[in-house]
Amino acid sequence: MSTIPPSDGEGPWNDPHPFDSEQRWEQDLRPKGLREFVGQDQLRENLSILIEAARLRDAPLEHVLLTGPPGLGKTSLAQLLALEMDVEIRQTSGPVLEKAGDLAGLLTSLPPRGILFIDEIHRLNRTIEEYLYPAMEDFRLDILLDRGPSARSVQIRLEPFTLVGATTRAGLLSAPLRARFGMVGRVDFYPAAHLARIVDRSAGLLEVDIDAPSIDEIASRSRGTPRIANRLLRRVRDYALVRGDGRVMLGLCRDALDLLDIDERGLDEMDRRILESILDKFDGGPVGISSLAATVGEEPSTLEEVHEPYLVQQGFLQRTRLGRVATRTTYEVLGRTPPEAPSTDRPTGPTQESLL
Ligand SMILES: Nc1ncnc2c1ncn2[C@@H]1O[C@H](COP(=O)(O)OP(=O)(O)OP(=O)(O)O)[C@@H](O)[C@H]1O
Ligand SMILES: [Mg+2]
Repeated sequence: MSTIPPSDGEGPWNDPHPFDSEQRWEQDLRPKGLREFVGQDQLRENLSILIEAARLRDAPLEHVLLTGPPGLGKTSLAQLLALEMDVEIRQTSGPVLEKAGDLAGLLTSLPPRGILFIDEIHRLNRTIEEYLYPAMEDFRLDILLDRGPSARSVQIRLEPFTLVGATTRAGLLSAPLRARFGMVGRVDFYPAAHLARIVDRSAGLLEVDIDAPSIDEIASRSRGTPRIANRLLRRVRDYALVRGDGRVMLGLCRDALDLLDIDERGLDEMDRRILESILDKFDGGPVGISSLAATVGEEPSTLEEVHEPYLVQQGFLQRTRLGRVATRTTYEVLGRTPPEAPSTDRPTGPTQESLL
């Protein structure tokens, strides 16, 4: 738990999902062109080529699926695609899009070559998903009217459009839907140097007077996530205003981040609790996600979506077929002595030699 709640009033500081009160900030801080989008170089280049090719062919952009943990810029990229292609974008999300009529309404009102952005696309219901197949392939909707003997379908021709889907859980997407995207791009956690550029840019936009070491400090404690980096910048700015003269210097910046209970690796109380439980209660693992979630008192989905990706990326946790397993780094970071051999490597029966 954070020692003080973020002054925006919602969620723990490291929740990579946006707080309601953050929507305005997010929009203000969004890059205004693909060039302003920091990092993810390979993905950015692939998207630039896709855009350029569509322009040269004078064709709509191919359907794009963006995958990766929350807060890394999927929505920003979708908006940038629209901006770069100079087309309209309509935004919806998997759980909101309940009825075929909703989908038909969105697609028929979209100007030619417009972008339909479906966030959390892994949460689309089956029926909508099946309506999407012909829409994506042939720009038509086959709407089923009535049921039983009087059932009939009407076909609606659509203007060419681009579907941009975003998902934090690519594994939950059905294979037929995935196959209909011309490009699948993965956004990854940002290295500290890229986050520093993002913090620097945001500080400029928010007119925060901050020194370079503080920018690096925020970057290295932001769990590789721009949304968190921008949030910490605002918290540190507040702290500087209340406890100092408004300028952000390293000492003050560290005090502010310590008060938020953010350690220098970006781990929070829940991350530490997860790692400690694996070592103390499950002997280093493997442990199933539901048992682990029950032990630390958190939802399995939050563990999977929020904590696990970062812990895996940092090398504190391994996902195996049998469950989650601690690594040597886990022992080190928690100041424990690792066992002689990792639990997964321990021989389970007599070795070949001893049988001879
Ligand atoms: N590469 C980047 N450069 C600059 N700012 C970025 C970058 N990526 C993300 N941001 C900023 O981080 C915030 C969150 O980004 P965004 O909303 O695009 O994330 P997301 O991946 O869509 O998250 P979610 O999965 O929760 O929908 C935005 O304010 C955005 O401006
Ligand atoms: Mg988003």
